[in-house]
Amino acid sequence: MTQRILIQLDSDLQPSSFDSVVAIDAGVEQLLRYGGVQVTSVETLVHGAMFTRGGDDLCKTAIFIGGSDVDVAERLLKACRDAFFGPVRVSLMLDANGCNTTASAAVVAASRHADLADSRVVVLGGTGPVGRRVAQLLAGDGARVTLTSRSIERATRACSEVMETVGEGEVTPVAIAPGGQTAEALSGAEIVIGCGAAGIELVDKETMLGLDSLKVAIDLNAVPPAGVGGVGVTDKAAPIGSGVGYGAIGVGGLKMKTHRMAIESLFTSNDRVLDAHEIYAIAKSIG
Ligand SMILES: NC(=O)c1ccc[n+]([C@@H]2O[C@H](COP(=O)([O-])OP(=O)(O)OC[C@H]3O[C@@H](n4cnc5c(N)ncnc54)[C@H](OP(=O)(O)O)[C@@H]3O)[C@@H](O)[C@H]2O)c1
Repeated sequence: MTQRILIQLDSDLQPSSFDSVVAIDAGVEQLLRYGGVQVTSVETLVHGAMFTRGGDDLCKTAIFIGGSDVDVAERLLKACRDAFFGPVRVSLMLDANGCNTTASAAVVAASRHADLADSRVVVLGGTGPVGRRVAQLLAGDGARVTLTSRSIERATRACSEVMETVGEGEVTPVAIAPGGQTAEALSGAEIVIGCGAAGIELVDKETMLGLDSLKVAIDLNAVPPAGVGGVGVTDKAAPIGSGVGYGAIGVGGLKMKTHRMAIESLFTSNDRVLDAHEIYAIAKSIG
């Protein structure tokens, strides 16, 4: 029987051991790990994947793009797509730094407690790769999104990028100066998702407890102090003020299941491209 081969492309010198373990747990039989991958090295690697197996066996080879730099990973994904000839291709997945699986798991967790299409959501620290994806998935499902940053220029740029991807929806930039008026930005929010850098508090517990409209708060930062005050890292639908909270580990179970299922689905055909939207659909199917 033809073995499932996953080619792991990583822009970091050492390919991520996390991504390798998940791949093997998802049933990958042969894992080919490449580190320090640059756009210029992609074509040869992709052609090696495309021209070795034919017919039905082509879907038993797939490519995973990881690494800590999400922007580089996006360029590697494009280079992979550019290397294909028509139907001669293999399936691709991008989850650099866990950006897509993490954002998808966070939004699905939020949707358990509020109707996204009817909600006002604040994505705190939303200019990073995870925050932009969270905003994209929420806006795509009809939520009214506010995306915050310390800089109005960065927030505006991130919102424009999200709108370009989603097409239509509401994503509004807001700047919050360090130590500034977070309560004002959160006013009326039913969903709050903290996507700031690791170890940075974006909103304190007192402000969260005073947010009467809150249905669900999610904090993706796992490094103390909490990004969203009052949300514990292992919380999973734990009470906070008028709503419930999830910490980074609290959404981690769904993230891991989503990652494994996404890898498994790569081998169902030779033309899948799993980026934020497709990985979100997988997370939704898990629920
Ligand atoms: N649980 C998981 O599996 C998992 C996986 C991936 C990521 N994560 C976590 O998810 C979060 C988001 O990841 P990411 O890679 O998108 O984050 P990131 O790019 O490192 O940071 C996100 C944003 O945080 C803001 N920020 C940075 N320093 C700040 C400070 N001192 N004060 C206020 N804001 C600050 C920046 O926005 P501005 O400069 O525009 O203000 C930045 O764009 C991180 O906490 C990360 O650790 C968790």
